Amino acid sequence: MLACDQVVKRFAIRRGWRAQLVTAVNQVSISVPAAQVLCIVGESGCGKTTLGKMLAGVLPPTEGSVTVDGVEVSARRTAERERAALKVQLVHQDPFSTLNPVHTIGEELSLPLIHHRIVPKSHLREECERLLTLTGLNPKAVLDKYPHELSGGQRQRAVLALALSVRPRYLVADEAVSMVDVSSRLIMLDLFLEIASTQDLGLVFITHDFGVARYVGYEGTITVMYLGRVVEQGPTEQVIHHPCHPYTQVLLSSIPALQAGRDFMPQKIVPRSFEVPSLEHLPVGCVFEPRCPFATEACSQSAPQLRATDKASSQQAACLLVEATSTGVVG
Ligand SMILES: Nc1ncnc2c1ncn2[C@@H]1O[C@H](COP(=O)(O)OP(=O)(O)OP(=O)(O)O)[C@@H](O)[C@H]1O
Ligand SMILES: [Mg+2]
Repeated sequence: MLACDQVVKRFAIRRGWRAQLVTAVNQVSISVPAAQVLCIVGESGCGKTTLGKMLAGVLPPTEGSVTVDGVEVSARRTAERERAALKVQLVHQDPFSTLNPVHTIGEELSLPLIHHRIVPKSHLREECERLLTLTGLNPKAVLDKYPHELSGGQRQRAVLALALSVRPRYLVADEAVSMVDVSSRLIMLDLFLEIASTQDLGLVFITHDFGVARYVGYEGTITVMYLGRVVEQGPTEQVIHHPCHPYTQVLLSSIPALQAGRDFMPQKIVPRSFEVPSLEHLPVGCVFEPRCPFATEACSQSAPQLRATDKASSQQAACLLVEATSTGVVG
């Protein structure tokens, strides 16, 4: 299980002479069982990448803990924690930020294999070829190429091969297909799913696109974030067909339908305002209150906690109004 418990990440930002702390991720707890899929969705700036980096151990949380198969990796590193942290690998959105432009793909893949002593040196080339084949690349065609000589899709596959080189148990994929040509996206999503399934990997898939989240996380769970907080989470199909939090309803309402009359939401839920508050001036009550079409006086006074939307399901929402309705659905 890959899990985080009440993680908080604060960043210091400068405003002229003034330094201010902003909370990019606020008391988030999520868990991904081995070989399961969890998708994190939300608009730009809601803290998805920051949370993903904390889960992958590349950014320490300000508060809270991250555990991989029961070992806390966010505390000071020991040999056991290093080994546990290696089980989680991050697949970046931008292949150029991962692949060193002066290394060939073969050289790049060899580095972690040598550093972590995954295979003996005599088996390096063979292992590189195995990793590239696993990600659908022709080893002969790419091993001696530099990143700029590959297509966008090939680069993203090479990044995936690099993440797999240390034989992780979990992948955190951050907008992993957003820089791939639209026509190749579905193929890449299928590749992630196939590799997660054949290699028994847990997958945390970060995306701003609900359609992508539904496709990847169809049999898994979904976590909806807004301004650093989890506002709703639960089994993917349940959240998509019965969104309880008004923010989830707004997101689902805004998906353009390919076929007339086939919208996700039977009625359009439109926010009161399209302006997202800045992290420097967060509302004291519910963070969605200034935009929520259903907000009441109480919503501006206290911040709601995540609670079960009904006794029979594992869906949770952080909304005072969900608590007040018998159906668990606002609107
Ligand atoms: N190193 C940093 N220093 C200061 N602020 C940061 C830093 N990293 C992230 N932030 C801020 O934290 C907030 C969350 O950022 P994050 O990149 O996690 O969001 P995101 O949901 O991944 O957005 P996007 O969809 O655009 O990738 C943003 O307001 C961002 O400006
Ligand atoms: Mg991001």
